[in-house]
Amino acid sequence: MKALRLLTAGLAGLIFTAAAHAAGGAEHPHPPEGGWPFEGPTGQFDQASLQRGYQVYHQVCSSCHSMKLMSYRNLGEPGGPFYDPAYPNPNDNPFVKALAAENEILSPTPNDIGDFDYRPATPADTFRSPYPNVQAARAANGGAAPPDLSVITKARHGGASYVFHLLSGYPDNEAFVKREVDGETANYLDMSKVGGHGGEHGEGFLKINAGQYYNPYMAGDTTPNYEGDPRHPPKGGFLAMPPQLIEGRVEYMDGTEATVEQMAYDVAQFLAWAGEPKQEHRKSLGLAVMAYLLILAVLLWFSYKQIWRKIEH
Ligand code: HEC
Repeated sequence: MKALRLLTAGLAGLIFTAAAHAAGGAEHPHPPEGGWPFEGPTGQFDQASLQRGYQVYHQVCSSCHSMKLMSYRNLGEPGGPFYDPAYPNPNDNPFVKALAAENEILSPTPNDIGDFDYRPATPADTFRSPYPNVQAARAANGGAAPPDLSVITKARHGGASYVFHLLSGYPDNEAFVKREVDGETANYLDMSKVGGHGGEHGEGFLKINAGQYYNPYMAGDTTPNYEGDPRHPPKGGFLAMPPQLIEGRVEYMDGTEATVEQMAYDVAQFLAWAGEPKQEHRKSLGLAVMAYLLILAVLLWFSYKQIWRKIEH
């Protein structure tokens, strides 16, 4: 009885904290419809989606975000987006070579007179960085440096789902209005017109400061900018990244229709792969190890029975 009471108290506590948590902060990033193919003990990345995701990264994100932990040859390794069994060494894969060569990089080795030249990248090079240093990155982006995306799905709560929702969760243009308050004209978001993601966003106007963008999935606090009920400010926060994905921003090589959701899904999956390129190998090895341990356990049990069979214990 006591145990039952303790259990109910514990459960009630859990539900209460969950509710309290939901009242503030950012929108919870649940997985997209249908889930991710790479989740679960046997989940695998969808190679076609990884290929499209690389295309989105290359054509859209790479103008602001670096991926310093990635080399072009990683794209052609087993489990990677452009792996081809005909080329076990990705440095020989002509497609990977061509993808690398699309990027002009500053050569890391000096030329004959000690200068550094630009040249097309090879599979051995790391991904081209858009800015020479973090100061330049900050200066070009209104004071906020775009973070390196190599392990972003590991670095943010919600992982790939967070990236998916962040990119596709910006409010529609119709929800913005220009208003004059105290003689000052500024952009506002009419919260009653923000539909879609997360459902209820309340009523009232949210002031958008210059160079900032509202996103319900971004961590932050909207209270200081909110004109509505201060006990229920809109979830989410502001960031310096403008909405990036608009319908048809990329033209997919495989002919898939480039909707905002599709591009966000593909690039999020690509970033999840980049964060853990050996995941598939780890999972298949893990399963083999579990099977091995199971057989070993059975063998050990019977040998134990055999060895101790004549001894009373
Ligand atoms: C025009 C430049 C630009 C482009 C293009 C761009 N971003 Fe960003 N991104 C930024 C900046 C600036 C920030 C930092 C925002 C801040 O902290 O206020 C950022 C932040 C982020 C963050 C981190 C948000 C957080 O939780 O801190 C993610 C994830 C992200 N971008 C993903 C992407 C992806 C994926 C793409 C390609 C589809 C992309 N970005 C394209 C400028 C850009």
